[in-house]
Parts: sequence; C-alpha cells; structure tokens
Amino acid sequence: MLLEVKNVSKSYKAGISALESTSFNVMGTFNACLTGPSGSGKSTLLNIISGLLPPSSGEVFFDGASLATLDDAALSRFRCENIGCVPQGRSMLASLTVLENVCLPFYLAKKKGDPKDRATELLALMGLDGFSNRRPKELSGGELRRAAIARGLMNQPKLLVADEPTSDLDPANAEAVMALFAKAIDAGVSVLLATHDMNCLKHCSIHLTMEKGRLLA
Ligand SMILES: Nc1ncnc2c1ncn2[C@@H]1O[C@H](COP(=O)(O)OP(=O)(O)OP(=O)(O)O)[C@@H](O)[C@H]1O
Ligand SMILES: [Mg+2]
Repeated sequence: MLLEVKNVSKSYKAGISALESTSFNVMGTFNACLTGPSGSGKSTLLNIISGLLPPSSGEVFFDGASLATLDDAALSRFRCENIGCVPQGRSMLASLTVLENVCLPFYLAKKKGDPKDRATELLALMGLDGFSNRRPKELSGGELRRAAIARGLMNQPKLLVADEPTSDLDPANAEAVMALFAKAIDAGVSVLLATHDMNCLKHCSIHLTMEKGRLLA
C-alpha cells in the first residue's frame, strides 16, 4: 500500500497547535515506528491517518485516494475495511464480552460469515485463551491492550495503526505483540505504531521521530 501524508496540520479548539505541516510517504508492506516526547503530536498524527480526527489542513491519501473526499459514512466504511485501530488508552465497550469486542469490526463492516473462530484464534495468539466471555472490566490493563490488538487485526486491515501497543505490557508480552505484528506483516498488513518503548524499534523498517508537532528528518 501507499500511505501519503501531505502538509497535515492540526490545531485544537483551545488554540493548541499539535501538528505543524507534516509530510511523509511510506509504501509497500511496512512496519513504521513513530517516537518522540510526550505531547509531541504522535497520537494526533495517528488519529488523523486513521480518519478518526479531521486535520485542520492538509490531506492523507491511501493508495492515491484522499480521505478528505469521503463523507462520514464512507469514511467509517473505509476505516472498517482497511484500517485496524488500536487507540491509546482503554477502548473496549464495557457492555460487550471480550470476544464480542474483538468481533466488532467484523460486524461493523457488515461482512458475511461468523467471525468468532478468527476472534478466538487472535485472542489465543495474544495469550488470552479463556478470556472470551469476560467483560473488559475483568481484565488487567495489559490484557485489555492485547485484546485491543486482536480487535485491530480482526478484519485483516491493510494498515494497523497502533498507539503505544506495548504500554502496560511486561517484556515477554511486549515481544509477543511485536512477533504478532511481524506475522501480520508477513500476511500483508502494514503497521504504523507510536511508542515510547525503544525495544519496538529493532522490529521496525521505518523510524519516524516527532518533536513539538514536527516530524524530524
Ligand atoms: N483534544 C485535544 N484538545 C486540546 N489539545 C489537545 C487535544 N488532544 C491533544 N492535545 C494536545 O496536543 C498536543 C499533542 O498531543 P498528542 O496526544 O498528539 O501527543 P503524543 O505525542 O501522543 O503524547 P503521548 O506520548 O503523551 O501520548 C499536546 O500538547 C496535547 O496536550
Ligand atoms: Mg499519544
């Protein structure tokens, strides 16, 4: 796939400029890693690339198609089918079981078939055998993180955008997550992650660094 970020800026309502005219291109099946100090704009950039947050100016293109041309419904559909999101912080729906949460992208994309076997397999790969019928509040922070990664991979997206996927994880589970990403990449999924975990860097093919809302060369 070809991901193009062209002159993307973001100012929040409070007048805070979080991202200043940021541009980069990545292509093929990549594992790109975004690092930088807290508050440097990593989540802002990932959320714009995921189509979750509109930029103040500039555009994001997937395989030449601009997200800006899509209305809300089309953008949701595009995201469901092409982008797996692992947001920073907690993102599981409290009223659903872990298995139902992992299956959610499949149902939202209105795909045909039964997603439960794949969801169960992804949970097992994340070391979460036997967690399917629990509610999110019955999981630890690290278990929630791994369940969110399983959910992000549910629809075999073209791009998995993962915001600090190894936060809350012990070194063994962090390595397991990176190994799962490597497996996803072998299956053609590109990965873009933001992290403070420098151990992630050795797995990445592309390293981008941010500082004060700007991408460093
Ligand atoms: N919704 C918002 N409204 C106003 N300001 C925001 C909002 N979200 C983020 N910011 C500000 O924008 C800047 C960039 O935030 P962002 O979350 O992108 O940083 P980050 O690099 O992901 O940080 P961290 O490593 O702590 O997750 C910060 O100064 C932050 O306070
Ligand atoms: Mg962040």
